[in-house]
Amino acid sequence: MKTYSIANIPGDGVGAEIALEAVKILAAAGDKFGFACKVESYDWGCDYYLKHGEMGPKDKLDTLKGFDAIFLGCIGDAAKVPDHVSLTILLDIRKGFDQYVNLRPIKLYPGVYSPIRTATPESVDFMVVRENTEGEYAGTGGYFKPDQPEGFAYQTAIFSRKGCDRVIRYAFELARSRKGRIEGDQVGMLTNCTKSNALNYSMVYWDKIYREVATGYPDIKQDMALVDAMTMWMVKNPEYFDVVVASNLFGDIITDLGAMLQGGMGFAAGGNINPEKDYPSMFEPIHGSAPKYAGKGVVNPIATIESVRMMLDHLGEAEAAQAVQEAEIKVLEAGAVRTKDMGGTASTAQMGDAVKAALLA
Ligand code: IPM
Ligand code: MN
Repeated sequence: MKTYSIANIPGDGVGAEIALEAVKILAAAGDKFGFACKVESYDWGCDYYLKHGEMGPKDKLDTLKGFDAIFLGCIGDAAKVPDHVSLTILLDIRKGFDQYVNLRPIKLYPGVYSPIRTATPESVDFMVVRENTEGEYAGTGGYFKPDQPEGFAYQTAIFSRKGCDRVIRYAFELARSRKGRIEGDQVGMLTNCTKSNALNYSMVYWDKIYREVATGYPDIKQDMALVDAMTMWMVKNPEYFDVVVASNLFGDIITDLGAMLQGGMGFAAGGNINPEKDYPSMFEPIHGSAPKYAGKGVVNPIATIESVRMMLDHLGEAEAAQAVQEAEIKVLEAGAVRTKDMGGTASTAQMGDAVKAALLA
């Protein structure tokens, strides 16, 4: 039987309980579609830090390198470790494994309520491709006399030709694969989320590369939105968007807004993808670790299940991925099982069980 090796990093807060749902759905999908997942779990996170002074062992990338994919629950517990310290594990994996695409589907499933009035299952269905290894997250900067009156901090964003080109190219390819949203000769649209009116080097360069790459995709409609206006259009006309490509920070910000279009953080997932498959890709719900809910079994596992769906797709199990999506839709549309964020009383495990049952039905 085909067996995939999956590294499981539950992380902090509610991570442990959602990771159980990820493993549950992976196993069920395997049973149904004839593959197995060998899951290896790692207890890295803030508690590990309190014991060892670091978020995970030094050789963590070597440990992870051999896996087919990684599931990451959620990282961070500010009461134990400052966020900018704990989150290095996430950023180290993204950068270390050259997961330069952070793919975030923005889709509102039937039966899910969005706090945004324009959001309907018909109007909310687009993809954000977030650059994931450089840009504003390059991590370059420093302090000068931080405790003096003249002190300052600086942080430099890095936009390399290679870094921009490859993520924009990926987004154009994705737009091409989603054929059919635009009428006429052009089959898809790629919105360039930018801020080149104010960021006169970095985003002007990003735009230049967008235009260069676009010459290879005459079948894809070109489009551009300044990031501030983008947030407005996402609320006013979510149906307008097809595929959006954004820098690391802008992509981070607009996908939290996107999560609200999808019904909340309980529904939003992302894949940190190394398209060349030189390294494993990592899939995660994009919500935080919500320490106050830890162990209570109240968080919505749909975001986690969505990340498993993306993982299956990435592993080449497209049929299984689609079945997982259909199972989610069946459960959400029926509305009998609703977690706290949906106004219901179902537990994390009950929602996971419902999706599993629908998958195996
Ligand atoms: C995300 C998160 C991370 C990010 C944080 C936790 C560092 O917000 O995955 O969107 O900013 O990338
Ligand atoms: Mn974020």
